[in-house]
Amino acid sequence: MEILGTGRGIPKGILTNQDLEKMVDTSDEWITTRTGIKKRRICSQEETWTLLATEASRQALEMARMSPEELDLIIAATFTPDYRLPSGACLVQNELKAYKAAAFDIAAACTGFIYGLVIAEKFIKDNPHTKALVIGAEVLSAVTNWEDRSTCVLFGDGAGAAVVAAGNHQGGVLASYIGSDPRVWDLLCVPGGGSLHPPFKPGVAKEEYFVKMKGNEVFKYAIKYMEEAARIVLKRAGFEARDVDWLIPHQANIRIINMVAKKLGIPLEKVIVNIDEYGNTSAATIPIALDEAVRDGKIKKGDLVLLDAFGGGFTYGAILLKW
Ligand SMILES: CC(C)(COP(=O)(O)OP(=O)(O)OC[C@H]1O[C@@H](n2cnc3c(N)ncnc32)[C@H](O)[C@@H]1OP(=O)(O)O)[C@@H](O)C(=O)NCCC(=O)NCCS
Repeated sequence: MEILGTGRGIPKGILTNQDLEKMVDTSDEWITTRTGIKKRRICSQEETWTLLATEASRQALEMARMSPEELDLIIAATFTPDYRLPSGACLVQNELKAYKAAAFDIAAACTGFIYGLVIAEKFIKDNPHTKALVIGAEVLSAVTNWEDRSTCVLFGDGAGAAVVAAGNHQGGVLASYIGSDPRVWDLLCVPGGGSLHPPFKPGVAKEEYFVKMKGNEVFKYAIKYMEEAARIVLKRAGFEARDVDWLIPHQANIRIINMVAKKLGIPLEKVIVNIDEYGNTSAATIPIALDEAVRDGKIKKGDLVLLDAFGGGFTYGAILLKW
């Protein structure tokens, strides 16, 4: 399976660390040194999940020179689509008029884009004519507690997408791996809004409807599992970390990114980083970073690219591909 096109949908509104200083007890200095984030994008009333995801998808289709009617499959990785029902993927399908496709969402949090690519790969193995659109998109501002300084400085909104198909040159996905460890799922969760604590259930505090995270504990798991997933795909494909031209890690914290790169032995010049611009956009971080690196001309044909993510669940996964 090859990635034929990439795209991104980015909200216009920018929220800086200085803006956050006026909202909660924090400082630009703390956020920058502890996370690497300088600003993040936040949706306005008019900018919806579907709008961002559709924009990313249109760009990816254009790069792939494919019309929406050719799509057989649309997979959206997200936990913040516009509605609980229907899926975000169906709403993008409607906007694109991609009526031939089957469309569904997957819930794998920040690892969702990698999970989506792995699922698409299976469909393509089953039928090599399959043309698929994989989206990673989030409006995290809707599930952020703007009074909680330990989480609100971290998240942002955005969307990325990739068009994938069997392809016709030697390359594409060389190895992939996904895994999950639910034993400490409650270190990172949104307790309210599901069927256990539906909206408006009496006695449920409003804070329960937002992302809750024990950041310093999640931090350790992120490093452990991102390193593990990366090593597994490198081994499966018969490569060493030094062969990697570009590492595109999930953008949750610059210190996590630096430590994973260091543990793998990949120099920082080979790591794509945009967390300073966007913060953590969950399932969207990797496709946004991939699209920027492709359009900036950093990633060139024949490059070995390693995608590596970790998120709530916990979920984790990696993909090694030849561009
Ligand atoms: C959230 C995160 C940035 C916090 O950084 P940290 O170095 O672990 O900081 P801690 O949570 O231990 O808090 C240290 C201190 O900073 C304070 N603090 C927390 N947020 C703050 C903020 N925005 N501004 C200023 N101080 C803050 C804490 O209250 C604590 O103070 P105390 O020592 O007086 O109790 C970091 O743990 C992280 O990135 N975690 C992983 C995120 C992640 O990977 N998510 C999963 C994938 S989506």
